[in-house]
Formats: sequence, C-alpha cells, structure tokens
Amino acid sequence: MVNSAESNALVRLAVIGCGARSDLARQAAASGLGEIVALIDPDPVAIQRGRARFGEELPAFASAAEMLADDILIDAAFVLTPDHTHAEIAIELLAAGLAVFLEKPLATTTSDADAVLQAAITAEAKLYVGHNMRHMAVVRTMRDIIARGEIGEVKAVWCRHFVGNGGDYYFKDWHAERASSNGLLLQKGAHDIDIIHWLAGGYTKRVVGMGGDTLYGALTDRRDNSDRTMSDWFSLDNWPPTEQRELNPVIDVEDLSMVLMRLDNGVYASYEQCHYTPDYWRNYTVIGTKGRLENFGDTDGGVVRVWNERRIYRPEGDLEFPINGDEFGHDDADLRTVTEFLRFVIDDTPTETSPIAGRNAVATAVAATDSLRNSSVPREIPSLAEETIAYFDGAGSPSTEAHTSMDGW
Ligand SMILES: NC(=O)c1ccc[n+]([C@@H]2O[C@H](COP(=O)([O-])OP(=O)(O)OC[C@H]3O[C@@H](n4cnc5c(N)ncnc54)[C@H](O)[C@@H]3O)[C@@H](O)[C@H]2O)c1
Repeated sequence: MVNSAESNALVRLAVIGCGARSDLARQAAASGLGEIVALIDPDPVAIQRGRARFGEELPAFASAAEMLADDILIDAAFVLTPDHTHAEIAIELLAAGLAVFLEKPLATTTSDADAVLQAAITAEAKLYVGHNMRHMAVVRTMRDIIARGEIGEVKAVWCRHFVGNGGDYYFKDWHAERASSNGLLLQKGAHDIDIIHWLAGGYTKRVVGMGGDTLYGALTDRRDNSDRTMSDWFSLDNWPPTEQRELNPVIDVEDLSMVLMRLDNGVYASYEQCHYTPDYWRNYTVIGTKGRLENFGDTDGGVVRVWNERRIYRPEGDLEFPINGDEFGHDDADLRTVTEFLRFVIDDTPTETSPIAGRNAVATAVAATDSLRNSSVPREIPSLAEETIAYFDGAGSPSTEAHTSMDGW
C-alpha cells in the first residue's frame, strides 16, 4: 500500500461502492490523471457492474478492510457507498494513509463528520469531499457576480429545490430510510446548504426546520429494490407522483422540507425542497445591498439575471449572464471535481471544495432535520475546534474571491 503518486504516474484508484454513482469514477480516466485498479463492494452483482464499467480483469474485494489487507498498490479511493457507511470506510482508509474522495454528505451525523476530519488530521492523509456543485457553471456564475460586487454586500440567500425526480431517486431504495440517510435535508440538501454557505460567505449558526412525509409514505406499492440500481427503474413516465410504484418497503424520511438559517456573518438564508414537482432544477436568489440575482435553469441554456436598478418589475433583469460550461449537466461538474481531487493528490493543488465546508453542511442539515422532527425548535450548530479549521487551512472556505474563467477545465 502506498500513498505517494509518483510524478507523471497515474494515480492508482480503488472504487468503493459499485452502484449508480460509480459512474463518477469514469472521470478518473477522462482526466488523464488516474486509473481504476481495484473494485470493492460486498455485492457480487455490483462487482460485475464495476468490471463491465472499468475492466473485466480488475481485482475485487468485498470490503475496504479486505483490500487494505492485500498487498495491492493503491494511492487513493473513491468512496461511493450509502451515506451511513461513509464515516467508517473513510476513517479506515485515512488511517491506512490513503487519499480519500468521499462522496457527499461527509457523514450522517455531526459527530461522525468530526471523526472523519480528525482521522485525516491524525494520519496526515488527504481528505476530499465530493461537493461537485461547487464546479457547476451556474454556481460559479452566481459566485463571480457576487465577487465582482454587482449586487453589493450579500444579506440573504434563498434556494428553492424542485426535486422532480425525487420519487425515482430517493424513495425506491436506502435513501428513503433514516437509518441509511438520516433524511433528505441532509442527503440532498447538503449540496445546496454548502452552496448557500459559499455564496453567503459564512456558515450557519442557527436553524429552524419544518416539513413532513406528505405524499410517498401513503403509497402502498412497495418492493425491495436492492437487486438493482436507480437507472433500472428511472423513467420520466413515472408520473404523476401519486402513481409511483415499487417504492422502498420503509419510508421514514420527509418529501417536503423547509429550513431557515442564520449565518455567522449575519446573512439569513432559506432552503426549500420538494420531491414531487414536475420539473427538476434549483432556483437561487441572492439579495445584496445593491441588487439581486436569480438563476433560471441550472445548466447550459439557462441564465442568471441581475436587477440593480429600482423599478416595479423587469422580467429580463438589468443584466443577464448565460450559463455556459455544463453542456453535459452533471458530467461536466464531475470531471472538474475528479480532476481537482487528483491534482490535490498528485501535488497538493489547493481545492475549491472543503472538508470544513462539507462538515458544516452536514452539521447544518442534521440540526435542521432535528428541528423539523421536534416541533421546529431552533437548533444551534456546534462549532469546530480552531485547530481543526486551521489544519485544513481554509481550503474552499466561504470567502468570496473572483474565480478565474472556466477555460482550461
Ligand atoms: N455528488 C453527487 O452529485 C452524487 C450523486 C449521486 C450519488 N451521490 C452519493 O454517492 C453515494 C452512493 O450513492 P448511489 O446512488 O451510487 O448508491 P447505490 O445504492 O446505487 O450504490 C451503493 C453501492 O455501495 C455498495 N456498498 C454498500 N456498503 C458498502 C461497503 N461497506 N463497502 C463497499 N461497498 C458498499 C452497495 O452494494 C452498492 O453497490 C451516496 O453517498 C450518494 O449521496 C452523490
């Protein structure tokens, strides 16, 4: 086992979890910086899927521990397993000195998230949390507008999340169970809470949550889908949501939820998530002391508009910025994210994602879920130790500096 990618050599990567998201690991080859050399999954069908994706001859292991006990040479691992397994697997790998790409959310509890950070510190091993939304063109366009001062000082960030594919994505497997995901405010919302923090330039200190299981829990057509993955049942024809079939046997997470947040820099934010809208996208508005921005669409073809003159209403805004650079949606951001991770592994190139921010997204979502399930009582977000924050050196911290263009990605 080694943890030093020799210069010019490809980073040797293990794929841990060969389910739907293992598609992400294809970006290692696309980046030209890494190669998949081992597959880990307890499910033999998943191993077959992994071999079909990455190479029929690849060695396979039933667990990370089994791989670590072998003498196979691995530099780094993608951890693409269900959320409740993230902390244990990541801690095991970090302790062995491997660099870890850990999918979001970092963990399903704040204490587990803190334990992962501590494991990276103790082993001096590289931890990267896969918040790929930081590499989405819509997010970078909004952040650049803010950094250029076009809306003044940010005072409020509101995000409405229309999770039109929610029934297929989150209510037909482990995502629907608190025991595996904690809840969808964390599982899905961790992305947007991280972006809200990034756009606002601060981290949440206090939350109030509200929401419930308002539709899917009442549907009775159920099936244990553990023999297949999401792409096997996904269809836009699964509509309307009340006609959804083959839902997970257990559904104890919310399908409609809302959070109010107060950040440590005085910014106020809100996040609303619904899992049965006909459309699937996110709509942000950021209000500053000199204007307001809002995105319409969140991939290529969409726009971000800015209003910065006083009037009653002008639908086209005073300024309009096209969203360019996400021609292939998720894949573009995934390639940038994996490339960033591999550069970080190879030569410590600073990253725009951040373990501290990943932890704070978890802590905020966990507290909001707790508030939601307990009469909307406000919850405070536990702070991290200064030494922990200092160790990760502010990588990807929320401060807003203008980005360079996306050329070269
Ligand atoms: N960043 C993103 O945009 C994005 C998108 C999709 C999924 N994800 C994340 O990816 C992760 C995986 O999601 P998915 O949809 O692929 O789930 P999935 O259920 O399709 O696949 C998970 C795989 O992990 C395997 N597994 C379970 N426990 C394991 C263990 N201890 N060791 C090794 N393998 C194990 C399962 O057998 C399965 O093959 C989740 O954390 C999810 O949040 C992120």
